[in-house]
Amino acid sequence: MDAATQPVLRADDWLSRESSLLTPETCHAMPSGNRMPLLGLGTWHLTHHTVHSLCSALELGYRMIDTSADYHTQRGIGEAIRACGFDRDALYIVTKVDPEEDGYEATLANLAQMKLNYADLVLIHRPPKDGSHEKAWEGLRRAKREGLVHDIGVSSYSIGQIEELVYRTGEMPAVNQVEWSPFGHSPSMLDFCRDNGILIQSWSPLTRAERLNDNRVGAMAARYGKTPAQLLLRWNLQLGVVPLPKANHVQHQRDNLHVFDFEITPVDMIKLGALNEHYSALGRLLYV
Ligand SMILES: NC(=O)c1ccc[n+]([C@@H]2O[C@H](COP(=O)([O-])OP(=O)(O)OC[C@H]3O[C@@H](n4cnc5c(N)ncnc54)[C@H](OP(=O)(O)O)[C@@H]3O)[C@@H](O)[C@H]2O)c1
Repeated sequence: MDAATQPVLRADDWLSRESSLLTPETCHAMPSGNRMPLLGLGTWHLTHHTVHSLCSALELGYRMIDTSADYHTQRGIGEAIRACGFDRDALYIVTKVDPEEDGYEATLANLAQMKLNYADLVLIHRPPKDGSHEKAWEGLRRAKREGLVHDIGVSSYSIGQIEELVYRTGEMPAVNQVEWSPFGHSPSMLDFCRDNGILIQSWSPLTRAERLNDNRVGAMAARYGKTPAQLLLRWNLQLGVVPLPKANHVQHQRDNLHVFDFEITPVDMIKLGALNEHYSALGRLLYV
């Protein structure tokens, strides 16, 4: 979906079970023809009660879940999907493989942990120290050919690393999942991804809560009658970036879905973008 056409929906429309968040208005069309919801739930450091937390999130309206073997949430995610009685096809599951792994075998292992037949998106978790992780990528391509995953992508890759991967393998990643917030992002990465049909997913979209008490964000959020977290998520959405906020607290989970019923003005979008200080929870943005 074009960034300019990000929907402003009534919260009730967005959250109703019937809409299932997988309509053309609430999703990005992926290269495979699959549809990715506009926002998902992160699960790194999700509470140990993964099943309980996931069931609450699914009931609230989340339809995309982001995980990885090293988050230790995959078993709970699979259990929650079965326990809550959700149709697997109505959900969008993202997982990741370690760059040094065989992407095919690692995908099989992830699916086995979740007891699922397929993932919607599998990513190479980290950028290469050298080369471009072609072995992991070729494994993911095989997994895609065999129907174990709909789309494949990378995480925290720089523009140069994506170009090298494509040069060596001929296949463009569908997604680059990167750390992304008004305080830490890269306009040139956004331009590159738009030009090449790559969707950006945003990890740590809330800066791990490190910048939520920024006075400038607080004042602007108050003008919209929203919280700082909601403003940051909406900024992502209006750029066409897919945020994956993690929240243990049910109220946070709920708040983070109520971001489809207001629109940030173009002037305020620019002001938020100008907060960029290349902030990273890791000390530096890996992809810049
Ligand atoms: N690809 C990668 O290499 C990579 C790396 C890191 C993360 N990720 C993914 O991205 C997801 C999100 O990133 P993250 O977990 O690092 O950080 P985040 O989503 O930016 O921040 C999570 C923190 O924000 C708090 N929070 C959530 N909603 C809030 C709200 N409405 N108001 C106030 N505080 C709120 C949470 O509190 P509570 O939990 O207490 O509610 C938690 O402390 C991860 O969970 C993971 O799925 C991917």
